[in-house]
Amino acid sequence: MYDLTGKQILVTGASKGIGKAIARQLLKQGASVGLHYNSSPQGVQELVGEFGPERAIPLQADLEDNQQTTALFRNALKKLPNLESVVLNAGIFPPHPISDSLDSWLKIWQKTMRVNLESAGILTKLFLEHFQKNDQGRLIYIGSRAAVRGETEEYLAYAASKGGLSSLAKSVARSFGKYNIKAFVIAPGFIRTEMAMEAISKIGEDKVVDELALNRLTTPEDIAPIVALLCSGELDHATGTTIDINAGSHIR
Ligand SMILES: NC(=O)c1ccc[n+]([C@@H]2O[C@H](COP(=O)([O-])OP(=O)(O)OC[C@H]3O[C@@H](n4cnc5c(N)ncnc54)[C@H](OP(=O)(O)O)[C@@H]3O)[C@@H](O)[C@H]2O)c1
Repeated sequence: MYDLTGKQILVTGASKGIGKAIARQLLKQGASVGLHYNSSPQGVQELVGEFGPERAIPLQADLEDNQQTTALFRNALKKLPNLESVVLNAGIFPPHPISDSLDSWLKIWQKTMRVNLESAGILTKLFLEHFQKNDQGRLIYIGSRAAVRGETEEYLAYAASKGGLSSLAKSVARSFGKYNIKAFVIAPGFIRTEMAMEAISKIGEDKVVDELALNRLTTPEDIAPIVALLCSGELDHATGTTIDINAGSHIR
């Protein structure tokens, strides 16, 4: 296990699922972690209880609201002035089949884009300016297998938002490497979290597992160690890369 003592890291969407497992792993490895949440403070409070308020720092913001997203950047730096890695994990996965009226289809499209992509764009712009001054920084985007192989028709906005996130990360890696700023994408397949369980139970868990090369559904704890390794700096020369964590369901 890499020692992350002294490292300051922000994780968005740290209140449950993948983000919470990532935050717990980083805290276990010694880092100080900004624990962003929106509507679920209890998940973050659990981590504060486990690791103490010195290193586990709650930060609230609704990332659908651009002003709150900007405030998150400022508040994170107030609490973590030597912040060097940001894990952009918060996201939503709402269905909007094309049989919906255009109005309701578009509402979901816009909400998905705001939460999954626009907030990540704003945080990217603000952290790039900050990291440029410090001549160091690392942005880790939680993308999706959907960006690579596409999604089913109810999740067009979701797939498009993750495709955008992926292109954003690659552009950051290409354009800012000379400032010692690195960018990575983690592309999970189905992971056992609240977000995915509705879709998984519609398909049937046995069928989902049949489509994997491995014999069980991936959990958030299967994602967390890779993110900790990225935050350690040991993989910096893989900047621009996308790491697939999908239990062999989409090998490329
Ligand atoms: N689970 C999967 O199968 C899977 C597969 C591929 C990619 N991913 C990606 O992995 C990431 C985490 O997903 P998950 O499965 O862990 O989901 P989850 O359990 O539903 O957690 C989502 C997190 O995002 C936060 N969030 C949602 N809407 C927000 C908003 N408006 N403002 C701020 N924060 C908001 C939630 O905060 P609150 O609860 O505090 O509101 C929560 O912490 C997402 O980007 C997702 O697209 C997941």
